[in-house]
Amino acid sequence: MDLKYTAGNINELPVGAVVYFISEFDKVGKNLKALDECSGNAIANLLKTTEFTGKNGEIAVLRNVDCFKAMKVILLGVGEKKSLTHDSFRKAMGKLSRHKSLTSIGRAVLYFNDFENASFFQGAIEGYLLGSYKLLDYKSGEDKKSKNFLKEITFAVNNKKLLNRLEKAVTQGQIIAEGQLLARTLGLRPSNDFTPTDFANKAKELARKYKFKCRILDETAIIKEKMGALLAVSKGSDEPPRFIICEYNGGPANRAPIVLVGKGVTFDSGGISLKPGMNMGDMKGDMCGGGVVLSAITTAARLKIPQNIVVLIPTVENMPSGHATKPGDIHVSRKGLTIENINTDAEGRLILADALDYANKFKPQAVIDVATLTGATLYILGYAGIPIMGNSDKIKDQFRAAADNTAEKVWELPIWDEHRDQMKSSIADLQNSGGRPAGTITAGAFLENFIGDWPWLHVDIAYVEQEPKGKAYVHKGITGIGMRLLVNALQNWKKV
Ligand code: BES
Ligand code: MN
Ligand code: ZN
Repeated sequence: MDLKYTAGNINELPVGAVVYFISEFDKVGKNLKALDECSGNAIANLLKTTEFTGKNGEIAVLRNVDCFKAMKVILLGVGEKKSLTHDSFRKAMGKLSRHKSLTSIGRAVLYFNDFENASFFQGAIEGYLLGSYKLLDYKSGEDKKSKNFLKEITFAVNNKKLLNRLEKAVTQGQIIAEGQLLARTLGLRPSNDFTPTDFANKAKELARKYKFKCRILDETAIIKEKMGALLAVSKGSDEPPRFIICEYNGGPANRAPIVLVGKGVTFDSGGISLKPGMNMGDMKGDMCGGGVVLSAITTAARLKIPQNIVVLIPTVENMPSGHATKPGDIHVSRKGLTIENINTDAEGRLILADALDYANKFKPQAVIDVATLTGATLYILGYAGIPIMGNSDKIKDQFRAAADNTAEKVWELPIWDEHRDQMKSSIADLQNSGGRPAGTITAGAFLENFIGDWPWLHVDIAYVEQEPKGKAYVHKGITGIGMRLLVNALQNWKKV
């Protein structure tokens, strides 16, 4: 996609379409007067009807507008003026991104008229890129070819003084959207095309390309590290485990790093505690936490965020087999705490336990883990938001702010002693399941045993990692959620 910028006269541009953003209940004021006059009052007439009211995502197409070289003018509703946000533009452009009026042409102008807010510029490109994304790698023949012919977008404003701000915001939006699309692509890849080894290779490839460090612990090195909880999960699979370690140093050398830990289960069958068959295929997305943290460090490197960041991804396949761990088995974690594996489907917390303990090596200023950890999230926030837990109000506040900035909503859950008690085993130090009550919280209570003396946040993206129906800029399937949230939190990071 070619992106261009102009504050010039857009009427003379020989493009397929000029897109106007129109807010709800707009009247033909100063901003729309010229367009209205040269279109034979098409705008005034249209706004008198109920056909187009400027509601977010509404689209109307005017053809043969006299004063434009462009073949058509597209009116795109963004919603009520007083409540416009970054997300209004993301949503509206997400809708338009799949509309034939746009995808059938080669070049378009997005004209911001009197909208001068940089976050609107950023929202527009994010919405376009996220909304128009389609993974075609697994199609063949004609179906493999994109039906979107748009190759060039020119971002246009009225005021020359805005050009710098416009280009900066759009470039940032492009990098962030590409980060989220990377997270989606990794999650969409089926487990036969994305094993723990593939995950490690992908991390290496991204590190080379975007110039950060990455090394991989193979099975032998993982055994040497005594990661007994992680190995308990991986041993049921023929695919060997990997432990991915990436480092990006954008901050001063003496500043302690922020460590991001991501669950990287490339397929979760449940193991011997086998899941029901229905929707089991969704569990190819059980590495989304890992995908999100890998995309976040890639994006941080591209944006040159001035922080030191470490990413840790324990990656395994959870399978039943003759050498799989069995319910009742007891494992010794890297930390030395013993864990009774009462449900082999509670595997994510096992691999995270060893990864959290490994984070101590980096003397972190904070540790944030992201995981598709518990199905119980469905009964808490549904598909609407992300439960967070942890020991630091400062990190939670930073994530609440990041959630407001990115429309990736978070909500805090407590961890109480009653929940901690649920995780105690009668025979070992801990058990890996607390049963059904407060399943999301008890998973957090389990992880808490493995953290060091640092501020910690646990982010459970189970269920929100998939969109069931498809929304404005999120298609059905893997969402890449958490990526914008993390990057925004890192961009605005204040020492905790
Ligand atoms: N990967 C699943 C959680 C999950 C479920 C993510 C649905 C996305 C959608 C996790 O490993 C799991 O199986 N958790 C169990 C834990 C239980 C056995 C204590 C769960 O939530 O049922
Ligand atoms: Mn599981
Ligand atoms: Zn899982």
